[in-house]
Amino acid sequence: MKIRLLSESDIDAILSLWNRHLTYDQLTPELLEEKVWDDSDFVDELAMVVEHREQVIAFAMGVIRPVQNTPVGYVKMLVVDSRFQRYGIGQRLLTELENRLIARDARTLRIAESAPNYITPGLDPRYTKAMILLEKNGYTRFKETWSLESDLSNQDFTTADAEQKLAEKGIEIRRGKPDDENLLLELLQKTGWIAWQSELKKVLNRHPATVHIALKDNKIIAFSAHNTNNYNTGSFGPLATLDECRGLKIGRILLHRGLQDIKEADHRFAIIPWAGPVSFYLHHCGAEIARIFYRYEKKVKSQPPANSTK
Ligand SMILES: CC(C)(COP(=O)(O)OP(=O)(O)OC[C@H]1O[C@@H](n2cnc3c(N)ncnc32)[C@H](O)[C@@H]1OP(=O)(O)O)[C@@H](O)C(=O)NCCC(=O)NCCS
Repeated sequence: MKIRLLSESDIDAILSLWNRHLTYDQLTPELLEEKVWDDSDFVDELAMVVEHREQVIAFAMGVIRPVQNTPVGYVKMLVVDSRFQRYGIGQRLLTELENRLIARDARTLRIAESAPNYITPGLDPRYTKAMILLEKNGYTRFKETWSLESDLSNQDFTTADAEQKLAEKGIEIRRGKPDDENLLLELLQKTGWIAWQSELKKVLNRHPATVHIALKDNKIIAFSAHNTNNYNTGSFGPLATLDECRGLKIGRILLHRGLQDIKEADHRFAIIPWAGPVSFYLHHCGAEIARIFYRYEKKVKSQPPANSTK
């Protein structure tokens, strides 16, 4: 049994391993690529497999991202083949990944919620063995979050009349396009929503762009995006309206435009992960809480790298 780095030739083995054990989070080959190699913070050393008789029997992957200028390490994926569980492999992989994250300066470790590229915004407690493993390893639950689900099948998302009313107030609603990037950046900088920059840039460049925007006096005052993460699963968000422009029904129109796109892509349900204003979504698209996630954190002291002269 040996731990080695993940290679692209492991994709079928990882996909099969993951889908056999993560019942609630099935991945396609495209989604696995998105989660692993297409993560902008992917680093070879943070993706490992355990091999036994040339079979991949376990997999772990992490990333480091700066959060308010402090590096946070995320245990993004972890799975052990059920035939080899309870032999200490999960523990060994978790410890190895944690050590590698700490060696890269992580001060805090978190589980799964590696926004903007993540599978789930925390741990689904139905993965009970993982919950026990994490709590045994000193992770504490600091919050819960959820994903909402909206059944799109019997909803009408026509927005033409409401958009006409806004046009009379000098507000234009339209689909975003790649050269809106600077205007959008201006809004994100002004509001402190800058963390959304990379995901919005990505979806502005899709064909068609999966962003809808509201403009007034040539400035973007609100936007909604979908398909930013977990591509083609019906994922909606983020959605935001500038404080001083709230209450004009702009958010509802932008929500409905995004949901209409998701419906036209043949999804019966839209998923709204990590949703803030639950009552807004319940009211405007009948969305209800479909999944609950526990958010786990462990504070660690950063070790100086082995070759450091400090
Ligand atoms: C969670 C998981 C990775 C653990 O792998 P594992 O190789 O069986 O873990 P270990 O043998 O190293 O167990 C370490 C500790 O975890 C806890 N644990 C793991 N499985 C357990 C079980 N079936 N019952 C009770 N405790 C369990 C125990 O505290 C155990 O320590 P102990 O054996 O000294 O009591 C594995 O169950 C798994 O792949 N689950 C499905 C995938 C998943 O949920 N991933 C998390 C989402 S990213």
